[in-house]
Amino acid sequence: MNNTPAEHISVLAEFAAGISLKKNAVVVDATIGLGGHARIFAKSLSKEGTLLGLDIDQNSLDAAKRNLDDLQCKVLLVRDNFANIAEVLRQNNIEKVDLVFADLGICSVQLSDSARGLSFNENMKLDMRLDDRLSVTAADIVNSIDEKGLADMIYRFGEERASRKIARSIISARSRKKIDTTAELVNIVCRALKCDPLSRRSKIHPATKTFQALRIAVNSELENLERFLAVSPDLLSKDGKIAVISFHSLEDRIVKNDFRRKKKDGIYEIATKKPVTASLDEIRQNPRSRSAKLRMAVRL
Ligand SMILES: C[S@@+](CC[C@H](N)C(=O)[O-])C[C@H]1O[C@@H](n2cnc3c(N)ncnc32)[C@H](O)[C@@H]1O
Repeated sequence: MNNTPAEHISVLAEFAAGISLKKNAVVVDATIGLGGHARIFAKSLSKEGTLLGLDIDQNSLDAAKRNLDDLQCKVLLVRDNFANIAEVLRQNNIEKVDLVFADLGICSVQLSDSARGLSFNENMKLDMRLDDRLSVTAADIVNSIDEKGLADMIYRFGEERASRKIARSIISARSRKKIDTTAELVNIVCRALKCDPLSRRSKIHPATKTFQALRIAVNSELENLERFLAVSPDLLSKDGKIAVISFHSLEDRIVKNDFRRKKKDGIYEIATKKPVTASLDEIRQNPRSRSAKLRMAVRL
């Protein structure tokens, strides 16, 4: 089912393959990544169809370009943030879209890329920018914000109940030495939570929530998602679909509430009464799919 190189397995690919599209449809993959989902959609498209792929990471775009060079439909790849999707479509003379798709978060390749500094399992320079044109890194944040600001950020974006303890531990560590690496941050979190970074009693790494919070803050992830959802109805043709895959409850809540509000306002029909999740089989093959939730709505 998956068509990208082994480094990244596209989640919920079976559902994506079932989304019906006209041969001449215009499809926007707002998070093209390595192009796995895009290739699935493009299978339904003829030469008259268009696939527009967006990504903020040049490496992802380069990989997508390599992986999608044999498609018969028109392929446009643009480096931009999906928050700017309306401008991107205008610049490419696209008026209406039949499917807008977003698979939020990061690819496995980005997680293991030492230049990105996203992993709590490997020691990397603490960076976390998906778009290297952004100026503020995760290290800038942990070394500059005051204790309350850090605690609030870790609580709000990581839903971490021990956020105050972790913030205190960050302030104490950085008074001795600037925090530069992911391993240093992991040790600081573990010290705050009184756990051993190497012992794995829980399935979830103790630094998961703190890392999630920082990544969201560095990349303004929730704000970008809200901007993307806000403009989407104007871009969709009648019966056009919007499908979003999220990986944590903060994102999923934003998508769920947006679709519900727009259903109430007569803008969308919700196509997935409950979010689509991965089968046990898929989770076994690709543990990352465990937390994936796909919601789809149709433009009325
Ligand atoms: C989970 S991967 C997508 C994988 C893709 N669906 C596939 O099957 O290969 C998410 C991608 O979205 C990109 N991304 C994250 N936030 C973005 C944003 N605000 N605008 C555009 N791209 C974004 C990331 O750089 C990453 O390449």
